[in-house]
Amino acid sequence: MKRVLTGIKPTGTPHIGNMLGAIRPAIELASSGLDAMYFIADYHALTTVHPPKYGAADLKRLTLEVAATWLALGLDPSTTMFYRQSDVPELFELAWVLQCFTPKGWMNKAHAYKAVADAARAAGETDVDAGINMGVYGYPILMAADILAFDIDLVPVGKDQVQHVEIARDIAQRLNHAYGADLLRMPSAKIDEDAQLVPGVDGRKMSKSYDNVIPLFAPSKKLEKVVKQIATDSTPPEAPKDPATSTIFQIYRALARPDEVAAFAERYRAGIGWGDAKKTLFERIEVEIGEARTRYDALIADPGAIDELLVAGAQRARAIAGATLGRVRRAIGIGV
Ligand code: TRP
Repeated sequence: MKRVLTGIKPTGTPHIGNMLGAIRPAIELASSGLDAMYFIADYHALTTVHPPKYGAADLKRLTLEVAATWLALGLDPSTTMFYRQSDVPELFELAWVLQCFTPKGWMNKAHAYKAVADAARAAGETDVDAGINMGVYGYPILMAADILAFDIDLVPVGKDQVQHVEIARDIAQRLNHAYGADLLRMPSAKIDEDAQLVPGVDGRKMSKSYDNVIPLFAPSKKLEKVVKQIATDSTPPEAPKDPATSTIFQIYRALARPDEVAAFAERYRAGIGWGDAKKTLFERIEVEIGEARTRYDALIADPGAIDELLVAGAQRARAIAGATLGRVRRAIGIGV
């Protein structure tokens, strides 16, 4: 059976864009006859989720929210291995070994680091590395350990993460070249081409970094308030409207069934008030996430139970990571 793995960085409260673009496709993939491992990359989040902006309670809360979200949306922890990265210490030992085989130049070109450094350079900074910690710089190496520890075939990721998966392959190749071709399995990135792209309330791609997200499991009242913030123009209610250019419509289309979408488009062409359009969207979101929100609220009210479940998942993951690490240690000549 092919083994698939992906990591979720707990850096923000999950939103509708996450559900449509990543969580649902991953859960579907897990139930399609693959061996799935999904984990919360809390030590990757630590590269940015720390003081002065964030405290320890924030990292804890974000980790819990992400776990509860995936469970509420249907991840089945009895078939999908679901765990916290930090509960698998083998990953951090493996990451060190991988570092010793990673040319520094590869990290200079890794886009997360390069983007920050390039921006500093463009701004005429004398020290382009100011404010960049070694966690950010070496981020792709820990990610390579996350993958290579588990003999992974497929890594479903967004486009922005493809380079990181390629770095994992390159590192694996180096070790295999040095110690034998069977040491580490070569993973491939899997980009979901049909994943829904969802705009945020300002019309740009929904993203925490744009501060334009519609949170998934906010209480009804709050959700309604956010939907009302979606940007519109000043066209009068009775004027016919082009659904394709409307953010409200684009979000609706990503959620609703084709027949509902067609009916909504018809109302646009006949002339619809923005208030009515927003009400239709809000009600449709409520229908879409209502039951999951009830599950989410119950899950989040019992953090101990989530912890237990994640720890049990980590035990299973550690068995695999331990075997890989043992193989690597023997190959390189470490320990007994
Ligand atoms: N870097 C990924 C992101 O930011 C999260 C991640 C960490 C990951 N480790 C991984 C994804 C391993 C896939 C495989 O989204």
